[in-house]
Amino acid sequence: MAERFRVVGGTALRGEVAVWGAKNSALKLMAAALLAVGRTRLTNVPAILDVTIMAELLRRLGCTVDYDAPAGVVEITVPEQIGHRADYDLVRALRASTAVLGPLVARTGSADVAVPGGDAIGSRGLDLHAAGLEALGAQVHVTHGFLVAEAPNGLHGAEIRLDFPSVGATENVLTAAVLARGTTRLENAAREPEIADIADMLRSMGARISGAGTSVIEVEGVDRLSPTEHAVVPDRIAAGTWAFAASATRGDVEVVGANSAHLVAALELVEASGATVTDTDRGFRVDSGGRRPRAFDVATLPYPGFPTDLQPFALTCNAVADGSAMITENLFEARFRTVQELNRLGAETRIDGHHVMVHGVERLSGAPVEASDIRAGAALVIAGLVAEGVTTVSGAQHIDRGYAGFAESMQGLGADVTREPDEAPFL
Ligand code: UD1
Repeated sequence: MAERFRVVGGTALRGEVAVWGAKNSALKLMAAALLAVGRTRLTNVPAILDVTIMAELLRRLGCTVDYDAPAGVVEITVPEQIGHRADYDLVRALRASTAVLGPLVARTGSADVAVPGGDAIGSRGLDLHAAGLEALGAQVHVTHGFLVAEAPNGLHGAEIRLDFPSVGATENVLTAAVLARGTTRLENAAREPEIADIADMLRSMGARISGAGTSVIEVEGVDRLSPTEHAVVPDRIAAGTWAFAASATRGDVEVVGANSAHLVAALELVEASGATVTDTDRGFRVDSGGRRPRAFDVATLPYPGFPTDLQPFALTCNAVADGSAMITENLFEARFRTVQELNRLGAETRIDGHHVMVHGVERLSGAPVEASDIRAGAALVIAGLVAEGVTTVSGAQHIDRGYAGFAESMQGLGADVTREPDEAPFL
């Protein structure tokens, strides 16, 4: 039965909220576990559907996977012989399934990974992933909806320069190069904390990697990796969600388990909105002082720039801010889906190419809206909090993919947010 979030507007978020490990790291670490025979244990794993899907993918490859969601633990036992195919039903459900590409080619000399279709946030190719693997000696082609990479004689080190610092391509090159013969130098690599996290885990498995977290990564291939235990890096996007939510709702929130050093660009803008950000023993605190946010301009960029995944929250904050702001999306083409739904709530916006002009209003006005992806969905729940009356956000399952217990977290901060069955659509 489809569900929606029901949000009663008017509450300033107050109190503390916990963040778990990053979804975007946990899924890749699970894929990287394929690189070593034996049992790898991950902790601080979020309790979200995407982890369940990745677990199923690894089982189909021959692994045993135990996922204790409440404890945040995933144990993956990888046999000597594993499969090399990721089917469309799983890749379609979880685009991050493509993270098995690098580990599978490295381990088995072959990978067939279904090509994901277009998704709600712009067209995302795999061309950089393919070019990286080709440079490492794999032959790559697309057939019958699968990207097939073959390296029957193994991979070799190479000098690779990415045309764009793609997160996914950096990860696949890294997870392939660790078992290649010789040295790989990857230039214009993505610098996200999740890349550094994967490199940390790979190093604890015996990989030789330097420079992860900077734009040049060097990898000296080794023959074999060993299983390990690793705690997932804190989720900076979930943490940033709460930071903007605190400012938008004129609240005061301590985000426990977060690392503010991974959110410098975002927290600068939270401060520009007028809130005070301070580090605490357990994370950081955002205190709006009960004031209406001030408008602030935003331009998304690869890390360490402002993350595209937080753009919907900056937009929502600006929708109720004092003044006008320009939001520029530089990473994904169509990532303004929050805008049309925010407009249903009375936001004043105008889209012009990859910019949105937002003129802040004092309060939004509650209405039924629909989540199109994880972040847009969570942003609309926050918009509901700064709207008069009741807002319902259909598509609760999107939010569940990125936030464990989102309604409970909201309730813990004093908000009237509940789940309820959704009406079946008219058609
Ligand atoms: C990851 C995150 C996503 C985040 C994004 C950017 C996961 C599961 N997802 O996605 O939440 O929004 O980083 O921070 O970790 N591109 C190409 N060709 C390629 C690869 C990418 O053209 O081969 C383009 C994409 O179309 C997009 C841009 O590069 O416009 C960024 O993509 P990328 O950095 O690869 O993001 P993902 O790894 O897909």
